Amino acid sequence: MSDGLEDVVAARTVLSEVDGAAGRLIIRGYRLEELAGRTSFAEAAELMLDGFFPDLPSGEAFAAALSRSRVEVFAEVAALDGRLVSRSPVEAVRALMARLADGDDLATALRLLAAPAVFTPAVIRARRGLKPVAPDASLPHAADILRMMGGEAVAPAQAAALDAYLVTVCDHGLNASTFAARVVASTQAGLASAVLAGLSALKGPLHGGAPGPVIEMLDAIGEASNARPWLEAALQRGDRLMGFGHRIYRVRDPRADALKRAIGKLGTSSGRLAYAEAVEAAAIAILRERKPDRALQTNVEFYTALLLEALSFPPDSFTCVFAMGRTLGWIAHAQEQIAGGRLIRPQSVYVGPVPKQAA
Ligand code: ACO
Repeated sequence: MSDGLEDVVAARTVLSEVDGAAGRLIIRGYRLEELAGRTSFAEAAELMLDGFFPDLPSGEAFAAALSRSRVEVFAEVAALDGRLVSRSPVEAVRALMARLADGDDLATALRLLAAPAVFTPAVIRARRGLKPVAPDASLPHAADILRMMGGEAVAPAQAAALDAYLVTVCDHGLNASTFAARVVASTQAGLASAVLAGLSALKGPLHGGAPGPVIEMLDAIGEASNARPWLEAALQRGDRLMGFGHRIYRVRDPRADALKRAIGKLGTSSGRLAYAEAVEAAAIAILRERKPDRALQTNVEFYTALLLEALSFPPDSFTCVFAMGRTLGWIAHAQEQIAGGRLIRPQSVYVGPVPKQAA
């Protein structure tokens, strides 16, 4: 038995393969490098969902259906009241997503895919005291997300960078949130229930909640020369360094480099990038000194933080942006799990008190 289920195989999937020793990620037959920065999120979504819905449209028709779904779910933003706005962005987005109906058809899947993309900009604006901006179905997905957040059209390079991010994080084997989604899907509860389970698991700082704290760490360190003493003090306190380490990867997370390339193409934050690289190098060196047997490397969250910061997402919304991409993986995995038809129901070992013998 292993407490974290490492090395336990719990699903067969055609969706993605994570090779932790080689630092390789395959998504539906393509290496990550072939997809990220080269395909739009809508194209990646069509690829991932292929074979899971009988009526899946293709090409421009798929992109148009996703755009219409953004417009459709926008009606739910009216439920964003002061109480929800005072919660963390991911809790507010989760509450709005919980308003969507369950189901296992394509329309339900597209609404769920569109939901975090529409709700996150609305929540970000509401927290700034601004009115939501309605989706524009004539725009591609990533460009519309950034427009809904900032209120005006963005440069193609920015939309391309967000597309690269969403594609990079759209699926990643049987990570905690995807497993949670598959468990719920296996009960036939419906796609909305599976996606909400995934989102709830993603929220934790050991999974998708890490990139916000990466920015806090970079801001607290302040300058490259302060990196080593700051990081050593953090480890001395028993803190984990956010953006480093991974359950599967024993070498560098290939997603970190995909995102670094996307940041490079933005060309806006070269000073910040150089500073972050210095912090990254110091962190890897210190982790190697302290944990020579563990091979702790940069994970996806480190460069996620830098990319989403460059795109003007506030750090406390980063997990929601992660969910915009990963919802695609949750939906595809849920459909795959349902098609397999087997309820996920593992065993536990009882280590509690033994009942007294009856007299
Ligand atoms: N900083 C400091 N020490 C670390 C780190 C880190 N980032 N990661 C692992 N370690 C240490 C652990 O404390 C542990 O030490 P111990 O054996 O003395 O207790 C040892 O390395 C082994 O770590 P595990 O806990 O076995 O690693 P696990 O595979 O369970 O954890 C995890 C992976 C949760 C990602 C971990 O590396 C971590 O907490 N990282 C920081 C948070 C983070 O970046 N999360 C995002 C992950 S990527 C994603 O989910 C999308």
